[in-house]
Amino acid sequence: MSARVVSNEPAGAYHLITLDAPAVAAGAEPGQFIAAAVGGPQTALLLRRSFALYTADPATGLIQIVVAEHGPGTAWLVRVRPGTPLDVVGPLGRPFTLPAEPGTAVLVGGGYGSAPLFDLARRLRAIGSTVHMVVGAGSAERLFGTADARTVADSVVVTTDDGSVGVRGLVTDALPGLLGPRGVSAVYACGPMAMLRAVGETAASYDVPCEVAVEESMACGIGVCMTCVLPVVGVDGRSRMVRSCIEGPVFDAGRVRWKDVGTLPVDVLGADAMDGH
Ligand SMILES: Cc1cc2nc3c(=O)[nH]c(=O)nc-3n(C[C@H](O)[C@H](O)[C@H](O)COP(=O)(O)OP(=O)(O)OC[C@H]3O[C@@H](n4cnc5c(N)ncnc54)[C@H](O)[C@@H]3O)c2cc1C
Ligand code: FES
Repeated sequence: MSARVVSNEPAGAYHLITLDAPAVAAGAEPGQFIAAAVGGPQTALLLRRSFALYTADPATGLIQIVVAEHGPGTAWLVRVRPGTPLDVVGPLGRPFTLPAEPGTAVLVGGGYGSAPLFDLARRLRAIGSTVHMVVGAGSAERLFGTADARTVADSVVVTTDDGSVGVRGLVTDALPGLLGPRGVSAVYACGPMAMLRAVGETAASYDVPCEVAVEESMACGIGVCMTCVLPVVGVDGRSRMVRSCIEGPVFDAGRVRWKDVGTLPVDVLGADAMDGH
């Protein structure tokens, strides 16, 4: 579907891009993403690039994404000018699960991974939940949304690896102080895979359910190509390679086989048939 770039502004180490995309904004839920065609009409960059939705406003038709420059696709995107048409598909993927009853939630974001957590925090507060946020990054300029966090959460802890802002350390260092004493009913996280694994393991050690939005490399974004698979344990106890673009990107952290991500474990259902393909 066709979208249009409304604005493109630097935000620390990232770019905040606003798109006029009413069809995406109309149905989006926190944790979902878009897949954008990059490079313009003459490009050799054939694969779409995926970006989590930071905001989606059905009333205005505007959506926002936060983009870190990485390779050629994002290098083009962070330089795109207002008025440029952009072909996007979305909203894609499975969103975060909202609880049936209000509770106390801890939301943990790493780098630009914080982006989908602010709309989630608003939704949780709207149903009466208490929201604590932990926003972390390697250094001050790689943090995203700390001011936003203070408007949507009941408490905010900011961490940086180098101590340039907030508490020196990792986001997981802040979790015992939150998960121990506060009767937390759910943890939600988005950020680098190593962080998600650590957050999931910490939540499990306090017996608190944890959902994570993973960032697995994607090609089609719509369930066709199997690029984005990762090993996940099903409710029947069997492991399967599941597509993170349609069965995720949000998963129950306790079901992801973190140490096997990027591999094809021999015991996953159908591994024998997939071997060598
Ligand atoms: C569900 C999801 C949400 C994402 N949200 C954001 C976001 O909010 N902001 C942001 O800056 N980035 C986000 N990413 C990562 C972003 O898609 C990649 O950084 C981007 O595709 C890189 O493209 P490139 O051409 O710049 O780099 P290249 O490395 O040249 O990309 C080549 C190919 O590899 C894939 N790829 C490369 N790096 C990654 C990566 N880290 N994760 C997934 N696929 C990758 C790309 O899809 C592309 O097909 C997200 C990825 C996924 C899967
Ligand atoms: S990206 Fe193609 S199946 Fe998920």
